[in-house]
Amino acid sequence: MKKRLVAGMLVSLMAASMVACGSSSDTATTDTAADAGADTQTEAAEDTAASGDLITVGFAQVGHESDWRTASTNSVQAAFSEENGYDLQFVDCDNDSAKQIEAVRQFIQDDVDYIVIDPIVSTGWDTVLTECEDAGIPVIVIDRTIDDSDKYVSWVGSEFMNEGLAAGTWLKDYAAAKGITDLNILVIEGSNGSSAQIGRTDGFKKIADAEGWTILDSQDGDFTQDGGQQVMESYCKSYEGQFNVVVCQNDNEAFGAMDAMKAAGVSYGVDKDVILISFDACKAGLEYVQSGDINADFMCYPLQGEYCAAIVQQLEAGETVAKQTFMTEPWYVAEDILESITYTNNAGEEVTEELVVVTDAASQASY
Ligand code: AHR
Repeated sequence: MKKRLVAGMLVSLMAASMVACGSSSDTATTDTAADAGADTQTEAAEDTAASGDLITVGFAQVGHESDWRTASTNSVQAAFSEENGYDLQFVDCDNDSAKQIEAVRQFIQDDVDYIVIDPIVSTGWDTVLTECEDAGIPVIVIDRTIDDSDKYVSWVGSEFMNEGLAAGTWLKDYAAAKGITDLNILVIEGSNGSSAQIGRTDGFKKIADAEGWTILDSQDGDFTQDGGQQVMESYCKSYEGQFNVVVCQNDNEAFGAMDAMKAAGVSYGVDKDVILISFDACKAGLEYVQSGDINADFMCYPLQGEYCAAIVQQLEAGETVAKQTFMTEPWYVAEDILESITYTNNAGEEVTEELVVVTDAASQASY
């Protein structure tokens, strides 16, 4: 299907969608957006099947570094299936920014109808997005954000800053409940330059600074199990006996960090030497929360394919799309000590959010 929007029309669309966005009141919950997405998808698939045409979509995915990433890829591939009326060109960019820009340029050359990008890093996008705009191809950004350009139609993803703020606030309240007064923290960051790493780091640090905690070190573990293990091995040597909190910016890093701590004779989890915090809440992560090896796991919801396909369908129908759609994300904990946390989120609102105790990871995890 080549229902190409002319460049001028695309600009109007983007301007209209920007008017519709910008505050937290535009945010969609997973339920409402997913339901809307599913309905639109079914109708679209029926129309497309009738016409025999496919909508071509190029997707430049970050890579394959984590369980979260696998869930993300599966979600986008399922939403943009041939059965649903799409021809998806999928590129695994292997965490290489140059390769990702190249993939987008190839999509332009191939004259796809839509481009979906999960940006490895948040900067350096303006030129290639201008090329997309000049070619009249709408761009949808998912998961991570782009901060030096507004040349995309819509973004679907997580508020990473809030994830970091929630983790810091939980630690503050948990330490108080347990009577722990001295916190010495090691952070294993995600891939440097990604908005996921920047948001989680800044959010957590904001609470750490306010509380006067010591962050002994904060290094890049690249969102991988190997990266988490290597950084933790080096931390165990450099900071032997000096730390009692480890913050891993995703579950795979936490798995690697656990292996490294076990090998170094450091215990972690509920009432052990080290409080272990993670992000993502994938199935294996929640299993470790249930067993008490990870104290708290802050969800980052990866099943964004339906949302993205719903946006394509809205664009096909000539409708205005929301500039931003935020995922709703629960916070999971191992113990029934705190019911909720209250903090000021990135939009400046004071929010109180429940904590979910993991009692049955198999049914509580959806990816
Ligand atoms: O951008 C989302 C992050 O990237 C997830 O937390 C992590 O697991 C992934 O690699």
